[in-house]
Amino acid sequence: MRILSGIKPSNVPTLGNYLGAMQNFVKLQNEYKDADIIVFVADLHSITVPIDRQELKKDIRSLAALYIAVGLDPVRTHIFIQSEVPCHSELSFVLECNSYIGEMERMIQFKEKSVKQGLTVSTGLLTYPCLMASDILLYDANYVPVGEDQKQHVELTRDIAIRFNNKYGETFTVPEPLIMKAGARIMSLQDPAHKMSKTDPNPKGYITLLDDINEAKNKIKRAVTDSLGVVKYDKENQGALANLMTIYSNLSGLSYEEIEKKYEGLGYKEFKEDLAEIVGSTLEKIQTKYYEIIKSPELDRILDEGRDYAYSIARKKLSKVYKRIGLGRN
Ligand code: AMP
Ligand code: TRP
Repeated sequence: MRILSGIKPSNVPTLGNYLGAMQNFVKLQNEYKDADIIVFVADLHSITVPIDRQELKKDIRSLAALYIAVGLDPVRTHIFIQSEVPCHSELSFVLECNSYIGEMERMIQFKEKSVKQGLTVSTGLLTYPCLMASDILLYDANYVPVGEDQKQHVELTRDIAIRFNNKYGETFTVPEPLIMKAGARIMSLQDPAHKMSKTDPNPKGYITLLDDINEAKNKIKRAVTDSLGVVKYDKENQGALANLMTIYSNLSGLSYEEIEKKYEGLGYKEFKEDLAEIVGSTLEKIQTKYYEIIKSPELDRILDEGRDYAYSIARKKLSKVYKRIGLGRN
């Protein structure tokens, strides 16, 4: 059984990325001892929208180090950088030829991002789900842990895999998205109607894993809340508080009921102060490990090993695909 996932290295990951994705990679790694686990830095995905060269370079290394800092064990989990394994781009073109423009245009993420960018939308942003499908299908991944917002792309990957298998014979494993309900959608600290995102123009809305600890604590303390003043999980009427409770519950391991009980008769202030401490100590742990690993040659060794492992699997699969289609001389 193989579990595979990736994150785009665009800016530093947020608490949303951590709770919706990274933390789940670690849980899966620790739970499924027999599974082969691959987690990569999806750097090709980052260039679908304009990005500064220096920024990209920094973010790639930083995300790789963060994977380890949050608890991925390079002995158990193979970690690599997508662009260092050329098969991803190669298979992507083949999949583009086995998918429809209409399918790409239907993707919610494409619609949202293309509205924001108007006339300067790149072709890559449209075809990006084919690259993501390559990322998954090259490795015959059985499960793909992602946040809610990526589910549609994994479903499209399934459609493409099934279509390809029907047309050319059994070639790809049909993957399943793995959406962990808790933390699947962390919302902005300033606006519970929008997901927490590193591209939010208001930095008070998100916390990144490398934020200054005090600043991060202040963002929690100043997060918007509703006017009811009671610590109760009620997504409909107290969306902002429900979001904070989700963060609290995920980081502390307490259930919503346990949190409600703990703050019975107390206001938001105590709740937020405690949450600020919990977030602060989580970040502190991650950052300590991060600053150790980012400077060490160990990180390059891990990434070399990950690349070689990934390449050996991907190259074989790509050869099979080319053969099935009738490309090249063999
Ligand atoms: P991205 O930052 O868009 O590359 O997302 C990387 C991973 O983090 C994906 O699996 C997303 O679904 C997940 N993710 C991003 N933002 C959030 C959020 N606010 N809440 C939960 N998961 C998220
Ligand atoms: N597209 C994903 C995102 O924006 C990142 C990603 C790229 C990914 N390739 C993947 C996730 C393959 C899972 C599997 O978050």
